Parts: sequence; structure tokens; C-alpha cells
Amino acid sequence: MAPTEAFAPAKINLTLHVTGQRADGYHLLDSLVVFADVGDVVRVTPASEMLLQVTGPRASGVPDDARNLCWKAAEAFGAPVAIELEKHLPAAAGIGGGSSDAAAVLRAMEAAMGRRFEGHALALGADVPVCRLARAARMSGIGEIVEPVTVPVLHAVLINPGVEVPTPAVFRGLASKTNAPMDVLPEKGAFLPWLAEQRNDLEPPALVQAPVIGDVLSALSDAGAALSRMSGSGATCFGLFEDAAAAEQAARRLQQAQPGWWVTAARLS
Ligand code: C5P
Repeated sequence: MAPTEAFAPAKINLTLHVTGQRADGYHLLDSLVVFADVGDVVRVTPASEMLLQVTGPRASGVPDDARNLCWKAAEAFGAPVAIELEKHLPAAAGIGGGSSDAAAVLRAMEAAMGRRFEGHALALGADVPVCRLARAARMSGIGEIVEPVTVPVLHAVLINPGVEVPTPAVFRGLASKTNAPMDVLPEKGAFLPWLAEQRNDLEPPALVQAPVIGDVLSALSDAGAALSRMSGSGATCFGLFEDAAAAEQAARRLQQAQPGWWVTAARLS
């Protein structure tokens, strides 16, 4: 039987406002999320028992057993499958790699099995609900409220400096847990000026954990980005450029200057 394939795009938090904390410790978020045209690929085949094979340029160090969110997603779906996870995205990087992979497994399994996933996506991870939608959305609550929104297509350079930032430690480092939510999205035009006024509240505590994030943000600005910001809890940052050609040229230069960094141009929507 031919495998059913699904794309697992990188998730980018254009904004990430932390607006409160629940009694169980989880944080209330208000985030504008978009998806890139770069990502992982999952291939799913019905099987008699669970099997996970991790391939691709970023396979090293990725667990190929029940620790992997892909495996947990298939178990939550309730059918054994053989999964090939072709890794292109860096792990623990603030771009939802594991969550997007899990969402892609659910999509592929829905297509392969001809039934909807009736389980609890949020239980797999706070970013899994938005990754199931896989298009521009405003995410709130702790990640369970996902409303599709329209944003202009953006041309970005994504950079990960190869440092894994532990998400719980970044949240713990927040100076304030109660911050203003996002401003109302502009109806049309003036998107970049609006975006520049918004924040990623996790950027300051992530900078404490991984000061190299500051170097990444400076490198993006120096390369001509109109706006540069961290995604999620880091360490991946995005810079926004005028058009695809400008983003590709900046990505080439930045990769040459920093061969050890993961650098890619991407279209965000
Ligand atoms: O849900 P996920 O496994 O992606 O979350 C990783 C960690 O990030 C959680 O254990 C928690 O410490 C923190 N987190 C949070 N509030 C959220 C999402 C994540 O505090 N809304």
C-alpha cells in the first residue's frame, strides 16, 4: 500500500503576547501564527504495529519511538501505523517542529483511514491545534482557541543558531505574566507598522537563556530585514524582507557568514 503523505510546515509566531497564567501553571497567550513553505514531511502506512523511522537532513537525535509526538498522535488516533518522518526543521526551536509533525500525522491518518480524528489535539501539545489548521490564525487561551485570520503573504529569512532553548525555563523567566494582548489586526494595509508595535514576550527571557539570539536578531537587521523577531520560545528568529528575491539573497549571505546556523528563506502565509 502506498503511504499517505502530509506536509508539516514550520509554525512562526509573528507575535506572542503572554497575557496571564492559569492555576495549573500554563500561560494564557495571544499570538498571531503563520506557516512557512518549509517544513517536514510525514508518510503514513497502516500497519500491524507502530513503527517510526526518522529520515532527512535533521534526523540526528530525533527519537524514533513512543517519545516522539508523531507516535503519540498516531496512538491518540487509535490505529497502528508505520510512519516515516522526514526531518528538515531543527528540533526544540520555537517553530513547532514536533507539533506540526503530530498534526501532519493526524491529517495523513484522517486521509488514509477515511475518518476524522475525534481525540484531544491540545493534549498532544499547546501548538497542535493551530498546527492542525496550518494556516494563518490568531491563537489564544493556552493554545486551544484558534481563529483563522487573513494576513498578507510575507517573505522571511528564518535562522536557528543551533541552541535548544527549554520552553518551561523561558516561561519561568518572564518578568511579568500579565501583559497587554495584541492590538486589533488592521483590516487592510499598514500590516508591517502594526506588526512592529506588537511583541514576543518570550524574547527577553529567551535572550537570558541563549544570548546568541541577540546576534541572530542583529544579523537579520544588518542584512536589511524590515522587522526581526523571535518565534515561540526560541531560538529561531525570523526577519521580514521586501520580496522573495531579497529574502533569498539575504539568506545566502547570512548562511555564508554563519555556516553553523540553520538559515532558510521562506514564504509565510
Ligand atoms: O504544550 P507544550 O508541550 O508545547 O508546552 C511545553 C511547555 O511550555 C509546557 O510544559 C509549559 O511549561 C509551557 N507552556 C506554557 N503555556 C502554554 C504553552 C506552553 O506555560 N500556553
